[in-house]
Amino acid sequence: MRWRTLLLPAWVVAQACSAGNGGGPTEARHSMVASQIEARGVLDARVLQALREVPRHLFVPEAVRDLAYADRALPIGQGQTISQPYVVAVMTELVDPQPDDVVLDVGTGSGYQAAVLARLVREVISIEIVPELADQARQRLAALGYANVTVITGDGYAGRPERAPFDGIVVAAAPDTVPPPLLEQLAEGARLVIPVGGAEQMLRVFERTSSGLETRDIFPVRFVPLVRDPD
Ligand SMILES: C[S@@+](CC[C@H](N)C(=O)[O-])C[C@H]1O[C@@H](n2cnc3c(N)ncnc32)[C@H](O)[C@@H]1O
Repeated sequence: MRWRTLLLPAWVVAQACSAGNGGGPTEARHSMVASQIEARGVLDARVLQALREVPRHLFVPEAVRDLAYADRALPIGQGQTISQPYVVAVMTELVDPQPDDVVLDVGTGSGYQAAVLARLVREVISIEIVPELADQARQRLAALGYANVTVITGDGYAGRPERAPFDGIVVAAAPDTVPPPLLEQLAEGARLVIPVGGAEQMLRVFERTSSGLETRDIFPVRFVPLVRDPD
């Protein structure tokens, strides 16, 4: 069965996604979380629950909807992708989201990562450089009832100084080197989770501590490049 519920009111979507029998999206999502995510070591119960709840099939184009719960990134148009669910889970766990946090999400894309974060924190500020994707994500998140996400069209390299400091920052596109403004916008105790590099990339965590910045390498990744706004 194909899942064609995009742009239905949020309560209809919620009901459809909670039906949970007959091999529908809820079952596929629970199976994705168990086999692709929990089995590979993501153990934060709140993160796992958020991934069970966000209807990933409504964040991908209809042409690839049947693959929404597969262990892979998928095209979302404009030459961009929605990240592999496991990588979203790892990045979400690494940023250590807490209920009162305000988190910056750079590279909105489909809005999926922002939706996962929105279930875990107070507010998500999400920045997307491709206007068409930003518009679609804004509409999609509103239709699904994510009232605590603001999608901004622009270059996330500069972060959002007027809303800083952030309790966490997640970046879904890879710069060659880490953008200094994002490090500057971390609150004490907050983490920046970001892929860094060109042909070879590493997922890195930068944590601001009382004595400076601590850095950890997580694992090699492959993200689209962080592009810069020529203006
Ligand atoms: C891997 S995709 C995003 C996946 C997204 N988090 C999701 O859940 O669908 C990376 C996104 O980063 C965007 N991007 C690239 N450079 C950017 C920049 N400087 N500022 C903001 N967004 C950027 C791309 O247009 C693309 O949509």
